[in-house]
Amino acid sequence: MAARIVKVDPFDLVVFGGTGDLAYRKLYPALFHRERSGQFSEPTRIVAVSRRRLDRDAFRAGVKDALVKFNAVDDKSAADLERFLARLDYVAADATSDAGWSDLRETLGADERIRAYYLATGPDLFCPIAKRLGAEGLATARSRIIVEKPIGHDGASADAINDDIGSVFPERAIFRIDHYLGKESVQNLMALRFANALLEPVWNNAHIDHVQITVAETLGVEGRGAYYDESGAIRDMVQNHMLQLLCLTAMEPPNSMAADSLRDEKLKVLKALEPIDGSNAAALTVRGQYRAGFADGGPVPGYLHDVGRHESNTETFLAMRIAVANWRWAGVPFYLRTGKRLPQRFSEIVVGFKRVPHVIFDMPSDAVPANRLVIRVQPDEGIKLWMMVKEPGPGGMRLQHLPLDMSFAKAFGMASADAYERLLMDAIRGNAALFMRRDEVEAAWRFIDPVREAWAAMREPPRPYAAGTWGPNASVALIERDGRTWNEEYHDVE
Ligand code: BG6
Repeated sequence: MAARIVKVDPFDLVVFGGTGDLAYRKLYPALFHRERSGQFSEPTRIVAVSRRRLDRDAFRAGVKDALVKFNAVDDKSAADLERFLARLDYVAADATSDAGWSDLRETLGADERIRAYYLATGPDLFCPIAKRLGAEGLATARSRIIVEKPIGHDGASADAINDDIGSVFPERAIFRIDHYLGKESVQNLMALRFANALLEPVWNNAHIDHVQITVAETLGVEGRGAYYDESGAIRDMVQNHMLQLLCLTAMEPPNSMAADSLRDEKLKVLKALEPIDGSNAAALTVRGQYRAGFADGGPVPGYLHDVGRHESNTETFLAMRIAVANWRWAGVPFYLRTGKRLPQRFSEIVVGFKRVPHVIFDMPSDAVPANRLVIRVQPDEGIKLWMMVKEPGPGGMRLQHLPLDMSFAKAFGMASADAYERLLMDAIRGNAALFMRRDEVEAAWRFIDPVREAWAAMREPPRPYAAGTWGPNASVALIERDGRTWNEEYHDVE
């Protein structure tokens, strides 16, 4: 099945940090896929900006290499590749000095076309670049700015960044990326919840026992040690991606897909999270740090080796039990779990329903597992609804727990587009529905800051776990002491 392509108006995309890892690994491949699909209108340009002295041809050659390396090209893509490379331009400029800005102004010209400034730089450059764009008269009426996480390292620093960017660009022109929101199956969660009348009546504490959200990775910190050691799993994954998944699972139906309608509902969830602080953090959170072990197909060193430090209290694994204090979710725990160097890479949301109230079969009541709806975010995006069915054949009622299984790749006969493809095109269109609004970022930090403060006061180091295992045992205890278990079905079946 071919995807339906709606062309976007001509635009200039200016990528700061245009020779960095994110740009080569994610942005250019995503843009090239959009080129191939015929989504661009003429004249569209992509202008990379970085401090490096590089001429346009050398830059184009670098992008071509990256597209090959990241498997974006094949033997049928020669003409598209040529067209794409011809769109690329390069300007050497320094965010913190005058160098290069007049060249950028000249390159962009006075055209009033859509302009998107993508800040694929370290967060310390967000404010200097935004201010410069303002001072140079480059923040025009049709401009927008796209920023990557992390927006700050706590609530106060996020406020400062938002204030600075907000002094140049109005909120409607600020696109804060959380790439999880661009993942196909994350959007499918909204389709599942709000385009099927079947689920909404049972989507509450009368029928749902608990929710689990897991984002497991096999990779370690991969050369990002300096950033990661300051950040840890809570800032790297939970403050943004995982809380966004929680919001989409828990929010009330928005009245439309309009950006503010959606974001208003997510914000209400963030505001309803019960605080985790010094009074309860020890009971509700489990932190871990990987040691040497066996992961990603071979022996791997531990975290301290990866970040080149003798000691560190940064968590590479985190499990939490979160409560959403409102009528729909009172009494339904949300268990979150994320970690690096775990045995498998997958992300999923598991909605655990309540057990049947009375068992009529000749078996103990706890032998009848409850229904589970598993939304696989990646890989093998899809939905599984685990149900009890009768084993075929005579000889009494033997029951089995089996899934109704829908794989999106099989159903649609095509692989999902990368999250960045959708998010970049949405930003160009000015559709902010899948981007975080300022008050969402602030509310997420308001929940996260007290957790980190509680950990700092507890002075307990993260618990060690061997690379290639499911984290510290205490994470299993966190859920099992409530009489529940982490979902293992996905791993059995694959
Ligand atoms: C990023 C984190 O935001 O998300 C990384 O900084 C993490 O540490 C990555 O590996 C996970 O994204 P994905 O799309 O591979 O699940």
